[in-house]
Amino acid sequence: MAAQPDLSIALIGCGKMGSALLRGWISDGTACHIYLLDPGGLPAEFEDYTPEKITFFDKPELFAGAYPKADIFVVAVKPQIMDPVCAAIKKAVPPEALLVSIAAGQTIASFENRFYNRQPIVRSMPNTPAAIGKGITVACSNQYTTPTHKEMANRLLTAVGLVEWVDDENLMDAATAVSGSGPAYIFLLIETLAKAGVKAGLNSALAMKLARQTVIGSAALAAADHLPADKLRQNVTSPGGTTAAALDVLMSDDGLQSLFDKAIAAATARSRALR
Ligand SMILES: NC(=O)c1ccc[n+]([C@@H]2O[C@H](COP(=O)([O-])OP(=O)(O)OC[C@H]3O[C@@H](n4cnc5c(N)ncnc54)[C@H](OP(=O)(O)O)[C@@H]3O)[C@@H](O)[C@H]2O)c1
Repeated sequence: MAAQPDLSIALIGCGKMGSALLRGWISDGTACHIYLLDPGGLPAEFEDYTPEKITFFDKPELFAGAYPKADIFVVAVKPQIMDPVCAAIKKAVPPEALLVSIAAGQTIASFENRFYNRQPIVRSMPNTPAAIGKGITVACSNQYTTPTHKEMANRLLTAVGLVEWVDDENLMDAATAVSGSGPAYIFLLIETLAKAGVKAGLNSALAMKLARQTVIGSAALAAADHLPADKLRQNVTSPGGTTAAALDVLMSDDGLQSLFDKAIAAATARSRALR
C-alpha cells in the first residue's frame, strides 16, 4: 500500500485526552503540523515542538482569525462548553473539512447544527489508556464522510491504540459505558481487591501491591495469550480449590454479572442524558 501523506491537524483542547492524542501523533509521525488551541496554555511537554511542528493559540479568536490550514479539526473540550467553543472556531472550519469529536454524549447531529449540515463528522470515544498508546476508541461517522475521511480519522485515533467502528450511532452510549468509563472499573477492582485483602489480615501496603500487580499481570497475560477470558479463567481454577471458592461467590446470581449489568445500564443512561 502506498504511504499516506502526513496530516495537518487542528486540535481544540489539550487537556488529558487532547494531550494523549497529540503525544501519539508526534511520536508516530501522523501529523506534519498541528494547530493547537487551548486557553489554559501549551503543556510543557510540547514546548520544544513550537513553532516548527505546533502552532499554538491561547485565544479562540486568534485561532479562528489564523484560518489554520488543517485537514482535520479535532474537538477535545468538555461537553459542557462545546457550544461556545464551536461557535468561537466556526469561521475557521471549512464546510468540507473533517471534524472529529471525542466528547462524551455529543451527537453527530449536534455538530451538524453547530457547524454545517453537510459537514463530514466522526464521533469517537477513546479511553484513558490512550495516554500510553494502549487505548481503545469506538467511532462512528455521518453520511458525508468519505472512505478517505474515515481512513484519516482512523490514522488519528490508532495513534493512541485500537479503533473499532460502529454503524449505529446509538451504540456509542453502550460503548462509552463499557470502554470509555471502563478503566475506572478496573481501578476500582484493584481498590476493592486490596480492601478485601486487608479484611482477610494483610497489611494495606502488601494488599495493594498484590492487588495492583495481579491486575497488571493478568492484563498482560490476556494480551499475550489471546485466549478468550473464560478460558483464561478456567485455566487458573482447579475444581474444589481456593479460586473456585471465590468464583462461587463472584459468579452467584447476585454476583459480579448482576452488578455490572446494573453499572453498565446506569452509565449508558447517563451517556444518553448528556445529549
Ligand atoms: N478523560 C477521559 O477519560 C476521556 C475519555 C473519553 C473521552 N473524553 C472526552 O474528551 C474531552 C476532553 O476531556 P479531558 O478529560 O481531556 O478534559 P480536560 O483535561 O479538562 O481537557 C479539556 C481541555 O480543554 C481546554 N479548554 C477549555 N476551554 C477551551 C476553549 N475555549 N478552547 C480550547 N480548549 C479549551 C481546557 O483548558 P482548562 O483546563 O484551562 O479549562 C483543557 O485543557 C471531553 O469531551 C471528554 O468527554 C475524555
